[in-house]
Amino acid sequence: MNKYLLMMLLAITSMCLHSPAVNAESAKDNYRTYCMQCHGMTGLGMGVNIQDMSVQPRDHTDAKAMGTRTDVELFKVIKEGGLAISKSSLMPPWADTLTDQEIHDLVKHLRTLCNCEYSTK
Ligand code: HEC
Repeated sequence: MNKYLLMMLLAITSMCLHSPAVNAESAKDNYRTYCMQCHGMTGLGMGVNIQDMSVQPRDHTDAKAMGTRTDVELFKVIKEGGLAISKSSLMPPWADTLTDQEIHDLVKHLRTLCNCEYSTK
């Protein structure tokens, strides 16, 4: 086996070993790419689009509001859009853009932004 092949193998193995961190990173990247323009740089809901929006984007750091949503609901609203959970159509559906895995990772990312879990309290 030549050196180059060995290096490639090592690189691939280390990528696999680190995949949870990579998922968290890519969820952050996806958030910055697809969500930031409405939900804002840090999820506060102050994106550049908001001046012209009749319904304001959710503040994803609002633990009280985000805590009323189950992970299943969050998944659904990201995948199918606001209308899927009787919210505004200004929240777009991402089914054609993101894979289910990426959406799951985004749900986890949202939980880190709000620092909350679903709670009935
Ligand atoms: C074009 C603007 C826009 C973009 C882009 C956008 N959103 Fe939204 N989002 C909204 C608006 C507006 C609402 C509030 C809808 C309402 O309250 O009726 C919302 C609501 C939500 C909610 C529901 C919160 C709740 O429980 O009420 C979640 C979760 C969410 N967005 C996640 C995301 C994620 C993740 C992305 C990126 C993949 C994203 N949004 C991109 C506008 C946007």
